[in-house]
Amino acid sequence: MKLTDDERAMLDGREGRTRQKAIELLINYGTALGAESLVDTNNVGGYMIADRAGYQQFGGDFDALFSQMCLDSEERLEFPKVKAFSCQFETDMDPELCEIEGKDDEDYKRFKKNEEWLAKTGIQLMCTCTPYLVGNVPVKGEHCAWMESSAVVYINSVLGARTNCEGNASATAAMLTGKTPYWGFHTDEHRLGTHLINVETDVRGSMEWGLLGYYIGKVVGEKIPVIYGVKTTPIRDDLKQFGAATASSGGVEMYHIPGITADAHTVEEAFGGKKPLYSLKYGPVERKYAYEQLNLIGGNTDVDFVMFGCPHNSIQEIREICGLIEGKRIKDGVNLWILTPRSIKDLANRNGYAKIINDFGGILMADTCPALGRLMPKGTKVMATNSAKQAHYLPSMMGIEAWYGTTADCVNSAITGRWEGKLK
Ligand code: F3S
Repeated sequence: MKLTDDERAMLDGREGRTRQKAIELLINYGTALGAESLVDTNNVGGYMIADRAGYQQFGGDFDALFSQMCLDSEERLEFPKVKAFSCQFETDMDPELCEIEGKDDEDYKRFKKNEEWLAKTGIQLMCTCTPYLVGNVPVKGEHCAWMESSAVVYINSVLGARTNCEGNASATAAMLTGKTPYWGFHTDEHRLGTHLINVETDVRGSMEWGLLGYYIGKVVGEKIPVIYGVKTTPIRDDLKQFGAATASSGGVEMYHIPGITADAHTVEEAFGGKKPLYSLKYGPVERKYAYEQLNLIGGNTDVDFVMFGCPHNSIQEIREICGLIEGKRIKDGVNLWILTPRSIKDLANRNGYAKIINDFGGILMADTCPALGRLMPKGTKVMATNSAKQAHYLPSMMGIEAWYGTTADCVNSAITGRWEGKLK
């Protein structure tokens, strides 16, 4: 691999042992992928969470723990301040809600010490899978190194930033060095469309975008769909749901909606002048199929858990939920959790939404989610959600049934305790 002078200096150990190990890791990783060089990055997102078992195993020594977990090193490395602007994605708990989450004092102390360690190394404690909702909005062409599939597909496609879906080790090494291998979505040729999707039905609102995304992920897998024929302009939160759904049923990390997403104005541009590998359609039959697939695990209509906020909710989404629940009350025995970044939770507190949610009997939760924290109200059997991603993953992860529908369907099930959602 061709190295620049500053990369060579790190490799020679002139910036300390930890950066040396980090750049070695990136060179090995990049070489295995066929990258011929590294590229500068000043925007990295990763997960550096010490779970309870790891925290105990390493006696609370985060340097030792993250050396092994995030740099694949048996040697204990001391972590210097990160070089790249770096942010923490979600964690495994909201420290303000320990009791509800079934966490004890030891978990709380572990969380706080983890937080202190992250702050000491200069990692921004955004603690969300949607950093782009709270100030980290990369621009078109910016080279990033992010983990988290829903965030990766969003910034590649909607914003036109450039990132592969990193793992723990490559993201941590990128934080420490300000470098990432130059391959995959960093290069022009790997961003071109492969599959043309002709949309022949109305797609309007977040649930419909979730269905479209879920269908596309199923049929294209890890390829790059180009979506043509959508008649209405989606809002940011529609695209947030859409991308998360494509990355759940498939492994989509990039898509184009010419004229709307960042890279291409036309279908021709999205394919780089080449012919699509496949042309597929999305009409009423495909829409129905996606809905049925997402509701395959729902049999029992007695709902006891309603969940919003995967990916983490924006203030607009919280506003919509509050409009539906204000002045009403959740049914006894049903739990409602709304997940959002902490700074949006603070905003919701300031503008009265947190009170509306509380008066309804719901919980506004930050920093985490059921899938990442393995969290759920005790005894949950049947969940309702407007998130295709959670409807896809949680049943198998947590052994529950799930219903997928509109925000209004889910709110209705919180009020009545019954699922009455239908595809209209
Ligand atoms: Fe975010 Fe958790 Fe969903 S990390 S995308 S809320 S599974």
